Amino acid sequence: MSKRSAKYPVIAIDGPAAAGKGTLARQLAEVLELPYLDTGLLYRAVARRVLDRGGDPAHDGPEQARQLVPEDMRRNDLREPEVDQAASIVARHPEVRAALLERQRHFGRARGAVVDGRDIGTVVFPDAPAKFFITASPEVRAQRRYEQRHGQPCTDPTRLAEEVAAINTRDEQDAARAAAPLRPAEDAVMVVTDDLDAAGVLEHVCQILQEKGIIRR
Ligand code: CDP
Repeated sequence: MSKRSAKYPVIAIDGPAAAGKGTLARQLAEVLELPYLDTGLLYRAVARRVLDRGGDPAHDGPEQARQLVPEDMRRNDLREPEVDQAASIVARHPEVRAALLERQRHFGRARGAVVDGRDIGTVVFPDAPAKFFITASPEVRAQRRYEQRHGQPCTDPTRLAEEVAAINTRDEQDAARAAAPLRPAEDAVMVVTDDLDAAGVLEHVCQILQEKGIIRR
């Protein structure tokens, strides 16, 4: 029997760059037997299309967002550092966000979902029965992102400082934009993950979902 008690819930997972949203969302989707949607991939795919065409991420996002096809999200070059920054730039444009909004809602409405991003609890699914905002210090997030990319911890302080700077730039950009800025929904549960590993975060979140009656006891 499924652990899920609510039929088709949407679980919103938001937070700044490299906070571990994807790891948590993927594991949670498995536990709850729900589909998983990584909305960052949509913005990354739009940015990739703009870069491939030699366009300007600040201006050419809307056209590419309207032409996005499912194969764009299956590319294996969406997580490169140049795409991190370009995704954050295309994501500022209200027309890009508008072009992607209905796709996200359609995905979640069909049979519930675990959805991760920046504006899931505030804009995409404001009625989600469970919202989490996952954070950690920029230093911890930079180290995690480095390990994810290189398969080992970063021991070079200069290199780590560059990673921290890139993360801070993106967070500032994401939080300062007028359209759907990065911020916790009023009813989001904050989860600070500096001292938790992936299993610890999952356990903590599952406990809250039990308290909310979304996971069976
Ligand atoms: O995995 P990471 O946290 O590094 O980033 P991501 O979730 O893949 O998102 C990449 C970029 O897309 C972010 O920096 C945001 O600018 C944008 N984004 C957004 O604006 N809204 C979302 N729901 C998801 C991502």
